[in-house]
Amino acid sequence: MATIRLGDEAPNFTAETSEGTINFHEWLGDSWGILFSHPADYTPVCTTELGTVARYTDEFQKRNVKVVALSVDGLESHRGWIKDINETQNTTVNFPIIADEDGKVSELYDMIHPNSDSKLTVRSVFVIDNNKKVKLIITYPASTGRNFDELLRVIDSLQLTAYYKVATPANWKNGDDCVVVPAIATADIPSVFPKGFKEVKPYLRMTPQPNLD
Ligand code: BEZ
Repeated sequence: MATIRLGDEAPNFTAETSEGTINFHEWLGDSWGILFSHPADYTPVCTTELGTVARYTDEFQKRNVKVVALSVDGLESHRGWIKDINETQNTTVNFPIIADEDGKVSELYDMIHPNSDSKLTVRSVFVIDNNKKVKLIITYPASTGRNFDELLRVIDSLQLTAYYKVATPANWKNGDDCVVVPAIATADIPSVFPKGFKEVKPYLRMTPQPNLD
């Protein structure tokens, strides 16, 4: 198992899922992607997480992001549990869940942390851009459900900063002012960011979010 780091190509794999066999890279196509693991089917926190992801379908689609979940449970388990998620979380699960019974994908993505649990995957999240590059890695323990609003917020930042020479400050959210990257000299800012800028310090220059009208 090689360590996966930001900027690496997301390792490809073929896997059985609740929506059929997928080749990960082919399935991603030109989209961004989220690959996220949960410890086990028929568990309470995971049920709320997958229900939340399903309810956020429109938000992921708006951002051109495809979502795939994973656990080491089998297909029959996934299919039965999806019915429970739909029933209890007021939604329809419409993304694939990988049945990683042999641990092949978990191993490839280092999703089992033996000092946490020797068999079950932790709550890993990999965000992958439209060039198959890993842009974000986060890991939560089994006891803590993820904040998917935060995941959307980070995707907004990742997509913005991929196309504009800005970075996003602490607690930034879509619509807030952005930081001009240090590589742009202050004298050049007006030509790059015509909406204006504020020089707080020579190294801290703020500009309105550039991709908004
Ligand atoms: C849960 O999803 O509720 C859960 C799963 C594994 C361990 C602890 C909690």
